[in-house]
Amino acid sequence: MSNNGCIVIEQSLGLRGEVTLDGAKNAVLVIMASSVLTSGITKLTNVPVSADVFQMKQLLEELGAQVTFDEKAKTLLIDTSILNNCIVGPELMRKMRASILVAGPLLARFGRAIVALPGGCLLGARPIDFHLRAFARMGVHIEVVGEYLHMNCESLQSQRFVLEYPSVGATENMLMAATLTAGTTHIINAAIEPEVLDLIAILRNMGARIEIAVPGTLIVEGVSSLRPVQHAIIADRLEAGTILLAAAVTGGSVSIPDCPNSVMDVFLEKLSEMGHEVVLHTPDKGVTLKATNAPRAVSFRTGPYPGFPTDLQAPMMVAQCLASGTSVIYETVFENRLVHTRELQKMGAQITHDGSLIATVKGVDCLYGASVIAPDIRASAALVIAGLAAQGQTTMTGIHHFRRGYTRLEDKLRALGANITIVE
Ligand code: UD1
Repeated sequence: MSNNGCIVIEQSLGLRGEVTLDGAKNAVLVIMASSVLTSGITKLTNVPVSADVFQMKQLLEELGAQVTFDEKAKTLLIDTSILNNCIVGPELMRKMRASILVAGPLLARFGRAIVALPGGCLLGARPIDFHLRAFARMGVHIEVVGEYLHMNCESLQSQRFVLEYPSVGATENMLMAATLTAGTTHIINAAIEPEVLDLIAILRNMGARIEIAVPGTLIVEGVSSLRPVQHAIIADRLEAGTILLAAAVTGGSVSIPDCPNSVMDVFLEKLSEMGHEVVLHTPDKGVTLKATNAPRAVSFRTGPYPGFPTDLQAPMMVAQCLASGTSVIYETVFENRLVHTRELQKMGAQITHDGSLIATVKGVDCLYGASVIAPDIRASAALVIAGLAAQGQTTMTGIHHFRRGYTRLEDKLRALGANITIVE
C-alpha cells in the first residue's frame, strides 16, 4: 500500500448503527512474537487485518517461520518448527517498534538475538533501556555492533525485577523470557494492560506458570518447554473507544455489542461526565452511546492501565474541542504525544500547548475542514473523527499510520453513515 494516498472526509453528522469490533492490534503483535517460544503451529483467530500484523508476519518469516494469514477468516497460522535466523533488521525495527518483542522469546528459546537499534520516533525518545537492563540482569551479554545489538546468553537466570515504570513492552519481553527460565521470576510494577493479560492467557495455555499478584506483580515459575496452541485475540478496546467518540462528536448513537466495557471504565466514565448517555448491556460486555447535544468539557490525564489510555488521548481531545468549557489534558505516558494539536488547530480548534505534556482545550462551536497530516497511528483516527464533525471537507495524508492500527475502520464508519473516501 502506498504512503502517498489520502483520506477525504466530509462532514457526517449523526452517525448511527451497530459495530462489531476487530481483534486488538496491541495484543496480536506480542502474541505473534510469543509463538517463537514454541516449536510447531500456533493458530490465532480474530486477528485484525492491520498493516502492523503484516510487518510482524514478515519479521517471523525472516526468522524462518512459515506464516499463513487468511485475511477473510482473520486467522493466522504460524509454524515455528524451523527457525534458522535470530536477526531483526533496521528496516523492520524502524517501521514497527513492537519488533523488539521477539528478543525475549528468541533469547529464551535460542539464547541469541540480534536486533537493530531502534531509532527515535514521533512519540518521543521511546528508549528500550528497561528491556535491555532486564536481559542483562538475566545474564545476557549485550554488545553494540554497528547498528545492531548482539545479545547472547548461556542460560537465562531468574530474578526479582522492579520496573521503575510499568512499561507494556518491557513487561511483555521479560514475561516471555521468564516463561522458559529455570526458577522463579518476579516482575514488580508490571504493566497489567488487557493486552498483557491476553498474552498471559495464551502463555498459560502453552503451559507457562504465571501468577498475577496485587499490586501489579507477575510471578513466573519457569518451565522447560511450551507447546503451540490456538488462541482468539481479545476485542480491541481502542477501536471501541474511537468509534464511541465518532458517535459522540457527530451527535449520533452507536451500539457495540462486543465492547469490552470492564476494561474501559475510566474512559466510559469520562464520556458520561461529558453528558453522553452511556448504557452498558452487561457490566462486562456491550455498550450503547447516545450523544448529548450539549457536551461538557472534561479534563483527564493519561496513565498506565486502569488509567485513561494514552492511545485514546488524541480522539478524546477532538471531543473536548467541541465541548462547552475548558479541558486540561495531561499526557503522562509519552513525552511527544500531543503533536496532533497542531493539526486540530488548523481545523479551528482552540488549543494551547507550549510543548509540555499539558494541552488546554477551549471548546468551540464548530471545527472546519482542512488539509491535515496524521503524525501517528492514534492521531490519524483522531483526525478522521474531527473531519466527520467539521464543516466542509477534510483531507488527511499520512494514511499509512491509519492502516497500521485499524482493520478498515473507514468501512465501519461508512456503515454508520460517514462520508469517507480513500484515495490511494
Ligand atoms: C505499548 C503500545 C502502545 C501504547 C503504550 C502505552 C503496543 C504495540 N504498543 O507501547 O500503543 O501507547 O504501550 O500503553 O502494544 N519506556 C522507557 N524505557 C523502556 C520502555 C519504555 O523509558 O525501555 C517509557 C516510554 O518511553 C514511555 C513509557 O515508558 O514513555 C511507556 O512505554 P511502554 O509502555 O513501553 O509502551 P510500548 O510498549 O512501546
